[in-house]
Amino acid sequence: MTPGAELKFPAGFLWGAATSPTQVEGHIENEWTNFTAQDGTNCRIACDHYHRYPEDVAWMAKLGIQAYRVGIEWSRLQDRPGAALNPGELARYVDLLDRLLAAGIEPMVVLHHFSNPPWISAGGGWTNPATITAFVDYVRQLVPALAGRVRLWNTFNEPDTYAGLGYLLGGYPPHQKGRLGQFFLVIRHMARAHEAASGIIHGASTASRKMEVGIAKNWTFFHAYKRYSLWDRATAWACHYGFNKFVLNSFLGGRRRQASTFLGLNYYGRVRFHHFQAMVPASGAPPGQLTDFGFVCDDMVERYPAGLPQILAYFQRRLRLPIYITEHGAASNDEPFRAADLCQNLTALHDAMAAGADVRGFFYWSLLDNFEWQFGYAKKFGLLAVDFNDPKLPRSAKPLAEVYSRICRNNSVPAARRAGAG
Ligand code: FCB
Repeated sequence: MTPGAELKFPAGFLWGAATSPTQVEGHIENEWTNFTAQDGTNCRIACDHYHRYPEDVAWMAKLGIQAYRVGIEWSRLQDRPGAALNPGELARYVDLLDRLLAAGIEPMVVLHHFSNPPWISAGGGWTNPATITAFVDYVRQLVPALAGRVRLWNTFNEPDTYAGLGYLLGGYPPHQKGRLGQFFLVIRHMARAHEAASGIIHGASTASRKMEVGIAKNWTFFHAYKRYSLWDRATAWACHYGFNKFVLNSFLGGRRRQASTFLGLNYYGRVRFHHFQAMVPASGAPPGQLTDFGFVCDDMVERYPAGLPQILAYFQRRLRLPIYITEHGAASNDEPFRAADLCQNLTALHDAMAAGADVRGFFYWSLLDNFEWQFGYAKKFGLLAVDFNDPKLPRSAKPLAEVYSRICRNNSVPAARRAGAG
């Protein structure tokens, strides 16, 4: 295929964008409210999507985006164990969904994206098995309230990232480090909650409306920079085992595989280790060294489009589940770089689908520049820029929004030169 030729995607392929409540809504009371990011900022206002969602839906419609992966914030809806859902907050989410549907935008609802109500955190969060019961009670109330409007359900976003950063690396609340036992426990509890929540969601299917449910698994490739470095290989293997294999087995192994109708894949790229250090900007690796090594990175990780067909083929072989790319994006102020990166990754996706991967849709991370957890507002992932210095938080389309809009409308991507597997 010559670079520049148009690669068509199958009819009905869903082109979307994604956000999460803590990162965009503002006015939330959860474990992130009092968290100060590395750039000194917090998420208390964020993009004020809480008030400005009508405008954001209008932006999506204008860009031709066909699906929105949107989180529902548990802490807004239940202020104590077993409470009935807050009717005002529920009505606001219903209004958001109605506006999406009126604009022809299909919602994919995320039930858990790195945040909990304060009373859950006070009880030990996901290390406490009582959280499973509480979550299932919440889902039992929420699903019937939204089932007429939502068909695509994503129970947990990146359990591996949540448990890894919260209990091993300390970057996310509750900021614990090296607690391997807690990490495994959190994953096991979330996997049980996923199975129970999926049962509730399937129960809301009707003859004409079949619910789809899955988790979103972040897949990072972990490699040693130098193949003969035993220590770096061991580090890469340990990360692969803990974050990829163990998590996938917990959620999708054995009979639990039946709970899901799809797998969500969040794909950003790869992390290579050198002398135990993760050689990516997100871990503070010196930019000069990354350039010397010839690594192509955004402001977070090494880009690795060649990995996408590999992981999709592996999932296809092992799980035989339809896949949505529930997140993919690049953080940078260099818009031509982001456009080239997107076309490379979508070319790789197209190759994988031509080779048999059953991928149903793609959600760009993110619709908006937003609060990127421990990094604050410094990482620019948005299709839309937000002027955080202006109290009105005006949005404007970045050049990448135009590129993506064209992809959405044409259902095709200009073929990029394939990068080697490296
Ligand atoms: C993913 C998260 C999402 C965002 C992107 C950049 O790990 O799910 O909230 O932070 O990375």
